[in-house]
Amino acid sequence: MRLTQCHNYADFRKLAKSRLPSPIFDYIDGAADDEITYRRNSQSYDEVDLVPNVLAGVENVNMETEVMGQKLALPFYCAPTALQRLFHHEGERAVAKAASKHNTMFGVSSLATVTVENIAKITNGPKLFQFYFHKDRGLNDALLNRAKDAKFNVLALTVDTITGGNRERDLRSGFTSPPKLTLDSILSFALHPMWAWNFYTKEKFDMPHLSGYVTEGTNLAVSVGEYFSTMLDQSMNWDDAEKLCAQWDGEFALKGIMSVEDAKRAVDIGCTGIMVSNHGGRQLDGSRAPFDQLAEICDAVGDKIDVICEGGIQRGTHVLKALSVGAKCCSIGRYYLYALAAAGEAGVKRALNQLRLEIERDMKLMGVTKIDQLDRSNIRYR
Ligand code: LAC
Repeated sequence: MRLTQCHNYADFRKLAKSRLPSPIFDYIDGAADDEITYRRNSQSYDEVDLVPNVLAGVENVNMETEVMGQKLALPFYCAPTALQRLFHHEGERAVAKAASKHNTMFGVSSLATVTVENIAKITNGPKLFQFYFHKDRGLNDALLNRAKDAKFNVLALTVDTITGGNRERDLRSGFTSPPKLTLDSILSFALHPMWAWNFYTKEKFDMPHLSGYVTEGTNLAVSVGEYFSTMLDQSMNWDDAEKLCAQWDGEFALKGIMSVEDAKRAVDIGCTGIMVSNHGGRQLDGSRAPFDQLAEICDAVGDKIDVICEGGIQRGTHVLKALSVGAKCCSIGRYYLYALAAAGEAGVKRALNQLRLEIERDMKLMGVTKIDQLDRSNIRYR
């Protein structure tokens, strides 16, 4: 299978699977416990149907949106995800270039493998920095200041990783960062010699934002679950979030809000956005899907704060459904990660373009030319 044969999410996933050693593919692909929430995140979109209008004169479609002060040419952006250099040797650089080409936002993780300074050199497009609240306060200050100095536009504090999710695929495969050389992993690397060649001969794997503070994840191999459970501060509370928001003093979001009550508190502490998200089903299995929770959250806070729908998006119609319910925009994670693993920068560019074309076509078929023409009159729950 080649990149030119990838026409949708499932195709990119398939190509990624063939390119990656299985523990690394399963780290991206997997989720918590029985992966019920992970599946539900996408299935929830199937329970809502679109109701199109016709004869609307749709030759010129404009899908621009503004979210947390950032003008995006697309109604979706690349959510921050960790460890990208493990999936393809071009890592975050590839995603930054692809997002910039499409004039959309790129989210950079605290656990990124390329620094915020380097990303800032690649793109002056909108950038979000994802913040993990560590026990090490020196590290927290360093993360915030680096993102600020690199002129990142948005800070997003992840609030749904207070402890590691139970990712049984990782437990079975022994997946760690950096990858541990066990008999099984050596075998899976040997079966993917291109990946192994690139991983071991190109730029050394590192999580440079952590350098000088913690060795876990770079020099000391740990699972992501262990990292969350041991390095992040489980005492983190609303006061901490409020202080961080004030310290950042700019566009600030909480990533991983699922209840109306928390969405209202996010408004109270000064957030300008929230990501309705369950971390791609990777944390609390059995929790509701973001799309299922979206309507009540938009009803409660949609006029005060930008609501972003994150999780399970595989189709342009998923984005249209979320926008119809009231989200300002959506974000994608696995979609572009499979494409990154499949073919680096060219893969991510193709994936973003694919989703853009789907949205454009679907908007025309819906009879709308701007995304603010989408509302709940366009949808019906089954
Ligand atoms: C994850 C983190 C790192 O593996 O976002 O879900």
